[in-house]
Amino acid sequence: MLSWDEDRTPPANPARNPQFSPEPALAPVQPQAQLSPQMSNVAFDPALVAKPDAAANSGRRVNAADKRIINGQTDVNQLVPFKYKWAWDKYLAGCANHWMPQEINMQRDIELWKNPNGLTEDERRLVKRNLGFFVTADSLAANNIVLGTYRHITAPECRQYLLRQAFEEAIHTHAYQYIVESLGLDEGEIFNAYHEVASIRDKDEFLIPFIDTLTNPDFKTGTTLSDQQLLKSLIVFACLMEGLFFYVGFTQILALGRQNKMMGAAEQYQYILRDESMHCNFGIDLINSIKMENPHLWTAEFREEIKSLFLRAVELEYRYAEDTMPRGVLGLNAPMFKGYLRFIANRRAQQIGLDPMFAQEENPFPWMSEMIDLKKERNFFETRVIEYQTGGALNWE
Ligand SMILES: [Fe+2]
Ligand SMILES: [Fe+2]
Repeated sequence: MLSWDEDRTPPANPARNPQFSPEPALAPVQPQAQLSPQMSNVAFDPALVAKPDAAANSGRRVNAADKRIINGQTDVNQLVPFKYKWAWDKYLAGCANHWMPQEINMQRDIELWKNPNGLTEDERRLVKRNLGFFVTADSLAANNIVLGTYRHITAPECRQYLLRQAFEEAIHTHAYQYIVESLGLDEGEIFNAYHEVASIRDKDEFLIPFIDTLTNPDFKTGTTLSDQQLLKSLIVFACLMEGLFFYVGFTQILALGRQNKMMGAAEQYQYILRDESMHCNFGIDLINSIKMENPHLWTAEFREEIKSLFLRAVELEYRYAEDTMPRGVLGLNAPMFKGYLRFIANRRAQQIGLDPMFAQEENPFPWMSEMIDLKKERNFFETRVIEYQTGGALNWE
């Protein structure tokens, strides 16, 4: 995990932070090469898709020290020489964690769901509201990466991770759809929940303006204001969407699994939680790297704005907890989540160099940390895939 150096001095031992070059000053951003009219459309902006500033770089090989996370002038098509090794390492780790939803046996979940006495009404409501958020959330995440974030990031190592992340978001949407289909839930009800259920709609409406910023074809980085807008959207996405808005839902389904209920769904959520944990950590490293390369963006006013977004997100996620759990269920209740959300918000704030926002919050669900550390070989819920067939169906014992 990267940390924000408050006084902006270079690390005492640069070898311990190899992703950051020791040179003190950042090269000024070079003006863009003149664009032909048809190339002025952002979709064809050479700064985003090909070698930028070709005249300045012609005949010159990429120097890792010249790379920048945003507004870089080096060739985005050349992955190496590496500068942001942490991003490449996360790409490799993401690939090593590859999984597919069909690997997980849903038979016991189907039997439990179809048994009229299998689950309480509160447990069924929790499952449906839970899926109601997630079935569209990961499509929002994927679109945000593919149509937004990706084109504004000029470090090819980070782009490589984003491509992996985008595919993982597709797998997550697949997993949620697979659960909905396996249980025979009303697809119209679940997939429209983000329009029709206020506690879900409010979370998505909070996120959408920040996604719209990045996906707007007219949006470009390169000014303090636009770079701050990008940074703000990245913080909302990594710290508040993937890092906070997912956690009530993950905890609920994993709590079901801990009680031997919906264990196939719980196993899917475990794999998703592991992926999301890495997405969140990548996003935080990306944010901290942009801060280090562009310290002028991190103003007191900007930090206050971020803080108010954190507070709003905690409030929205708490309302979602209340809506999904109007009464205590599975040994959980909404007030327990108030402490949990404050604990997570403090952690996310500290990870990007802000002070904790809530006093002395402790994690009421320490078992969630173990879930994040899941190794694929160690199958917590003891269902076991015996054969993996790429592109085909799986056989089960
Ligand atoms: Fe996801
Ligand atoms: Fe994600």
